[in-house]
Order: sequence, then C-alpha cells, then structure tokens
Amino acid sequence: MNVYDSGQIARMLALSGYKTTPFMDRADVIFLNTCSIREKAEQKVYSFLGRLARLKRKNSDLIIAAGGCVAQQEGDKMLQRMPHLDLVVGTHAYHRLPWMIQKIESKKCRIVDVELAETIDESEPFINPAKAGENNGVTNFVTVMRGCDNYCAYCVVPYVRGREISRDPANIIQEVEMQVSNGMREVTLLGQNVNSFGKKEGKASFPELLAQLNEIKGLLRIRFTTSHPKDLSDDLINAFGKLDKLCHHIHLPVQSGSDRILGLMNRRYSRQQYLKKIKKLRRVCPQIAITTDIIVGFPGETSDDFKQTLDLIQEVSYDNLFAFKYSDRPQTRATELTDKLPEDAKAIRLQRVLEKQKKQTLLKNQALIGTTATVLVEGASKREKNTLSKIDCHRIQWSGRTSSNRIVHFLTDDGASLGKSIFPGALVSVKINEAYANSLFGRAISVTPDNV
Ligand code: 5AD
Ligand code: SF4
Repeated sequence: MNVYDSGQIARMLALSGYKTTPFMDRADVIFLNTCSIREKAEQKVYSFLGRLARLKRKNSDLIIAAGGCVAQQEGDKMLQRMPHLDLVVGTHAYHRLPWMIQKIESKKCRIVDVELAETIDESEPFINPAKAGENNGVTNFVTVMRGCDNYCAYCVVPYVRGREISRDPANIIQEVEMQVSNGMREVTLLGQNVNSFGKKEGKASFPELLAQLNEIKGLLRIRFTTSHPKDLSDDLINAFGKLDKLCHHIHLPVQSGSDRILGLMNRRYSRQQYLKKIKKLRRVCPQIAITTDIIVGFPGETSDDFKQTLDLIQEVSYDNLFAFKYSDRPQTRATELTDKLPEDAKAIRLQRVLEKQKKQTLLKNQALIGTTATVLVEGASKREKNTLSKIDCHRIQWSGRTSSNRIVHFLTDDGASLGKSIFPGALVSVKINEAYANSLFGRAISVTPDNV
C-alpha cells in the first residue's frame, strides 16, 4: 500500500514542478513515506530522518517531509523531535501537498496536516495511471479501499488509516482500464480487508468488482490483498473457480493457531472456522497457493499456544508466510495486556516459525520440478539488466511469476525465434527444472499465442 501511496505522492509533487531523482544528496525535496505497523519500522523512520540533518545543514532550502502512518500517528511530536523536518503529512492529506509545498517554499514555515477525512479524494491525479517506466509497467497496484474498522487488539491501522471507506467501482474500473492501455497486464487490488469492499456504500460487492475487472480486455491477471478470514465469503471463494484471470493465490492472515490468543487478538474467528475456509478454497481451486501472516509472542502466549500455531502451520501446509514478533503499538488494546513476553523468547519463536516454513516452502517448490508453469514475464533478471543491449535476446535470463505468485527465472534453450517473442508482459510456458526456497528456475517452452 505504501508503494502505491508513494506513487500518488510523487504525482502530487510533480504538480508542483518536481521530478524524481536517484540522487538524494542533490534533491530539493526529500519525502519519506513511513510505516508504523510494527515498532521496528517506526524506529527505522527516526534513524533515517536523523541522518538527513547533515543534508539540511549543507542546504537550508532543502525541504524534508514525512508522510504515511508514522506521520499520521505522531503529528506535531515528529516536528518537535526532528528540528530539521519541514512537513508532516498524514495518510489522508496528500491531495493538499502542492499547496503545502508552495507555502513552505515561499514562507519557510513548518506544516503538520494529519486530518483524517471521511471520504476518498478521487479527483485528478488520484485516478491517473502510473506513467510507463515508473515500475516494470507489467504489474501494478490499485487501491480499492482504505482504512479498517476491525480493531484487532495489536493493530495500529484503524488509528492511522481511519475508518473503512471503499472507492467507487466505476473509478476503479476506469483506473485499471487506463493502466491496461499503458501496458499493465496484472493488477493487485489493495485494501486492509478487501472482503468488506463496498459493504457500506452498497454499489458492488468485492466478488462483483472482480467479475467486472475480469472482463477488461488486455488485462491478464488479477490479484488482491488482504483478506480477513472472518469476512471471506462463499462468493469470493467461488470466484477462484469462476474467474479465469483471478490468480490462484490467496493471502489469508491467521496470526495464531490458538483459539485463546485469537480471542485476545479480537480476530473473531476460531481455528476450526479458519480451517473450514481453507478446505472450501482448496475444494473450489485445488491448486490454490495459500500464504499467511503470523504474530509470535502476543501478550500471554504460552508455549502451548505457540505449539498450536506450529501445528496449524503444519496442518494448512502454507506455500509461504510472513512472521513477526509482537510489538506494542500506540493506542492499541494489546498494549494494556499484562504478561508481555521478553524479546529473546519472541525471537526464538520467530526463528522456529521461519525455519519450519522455509522447509515447507522448499518442499513445495521442489514438487514443481518437471512441471510446466505459466509465467507472466516482468522483465530481465537483475543480473542481466545492465548487459541487455550487449547480448542476444535468446540468451536473456527472464523473470516473472506464476499464477500462484512464485518467482521464476528462465532462459530459452537455443531457439532464437522463441527468444524473440518473449517480452515483459508475455505469458510464457516454462518447464521447471530447479527449485529454491525463494524461486524456481526453468526453460521456456512456448509463448501463449493470445498474448496482447
Ligand atoms: N506486532 C507485530 N506484528 C504486527 N502486525 C500488525 N500489527 C503488529 C504488531 N503490533 C502484523 C500482522 C499483520 C501484518 C501486516 O503485520 O501479522 O497481518
Ligand atoms: Fe489491522 Fe486487523 Fe484491520 Fe488487518 S483487519 S488492518 S490486522 S485491525
């Protein structure tokens, strides 16, 4: 979500005449987009901002700005703590950026704007597509909703992103169509809890939105993130069996395998209810890849609670997961719980989860050796990028993703003709012959003929 927001911020700054530069030392404005989901992310923000004081001393005209969730959370406090910071912009205030920047340029003042709005600004340039070349151009994010009303006990999002609001489906479709005409082939729809998309507004449900996006010509793949297990509806599950462009992957954060901890977390589902949804998903789409988020060391988590999380990881057999040590976040209910776990105990549990999953991911990837995967090409592998012009196209090592979101690097054997028909945005059949924990490696066999 922050990657998407950073694009919006860059477009707002472009309205004030600024262009992006890779050279921070020479920038006129440095804008830091921040994340406060965990304590560690927040600490990184302050240490990075601290290092910028040196640049401000060299150039007093330099404008240093912070946006995103830490800015929203800290507001004025951030200005006080960082004397060289000029601007603190909350998560709902980006459309006022050109005005703020102009004021700072002319009046040399410092500004804090952390007002949370009730509506989403859908005016230009918020629905403007990312310009070609801003990223690989083939895959892009589109926000469909913002905020969250769930108030999980550990989570800062409802406080820093505000109430849940969905965008107008017509605007989302227009944004995706514009991006497709700019070369995008895969869209990832973003929201804290996409399952409740449109519930308040009543215009279209999330499965209905997906069905409409599935009709867009030139769009090859649709992904979304994130779903809350309690709201994962049968209609959405069935969409995996019906919509040909919907990728075979769902990220379904479970957080813990213990009912007691799930209760304390205010997740509002039980282990059994979660497992039932996993079963349904696999019935509708047997090849679906399932990934999750785990928090270890939530206050009061006993070794038995933790064992239940390890058991659940085993039982579901995830394709991959993200795991985090619990950290207190401002305003959240979990901060008031007693029985906090020491850092080293959390670190040991984190390690155990990560090691367990690493083995599982590797086994799952190894099972794909010898199969053929359809890969949406995102570009040349990093290693080759700088030498692209010097080598023949059939020698290029390409990379992309499978529908199940696995990264695949591949070469074409010899056939220069096949090599020539591969390009970013092409769908290529790749025979998998090597498997690692984080990627697969193979050889191209053919290019799907109905590529756009
Ligand atoms: N401590 C640790 N992990 C957290 N997450 C959210 N809040 C916290 C916290 N206070 C994790 C959850 C969520 C992911 C985005 O970040 O697992 O799904
Ligand atoms: Fe945070 Fe829970 Fe909302 Fe996800 S659903 S953003 S974990 S409050």
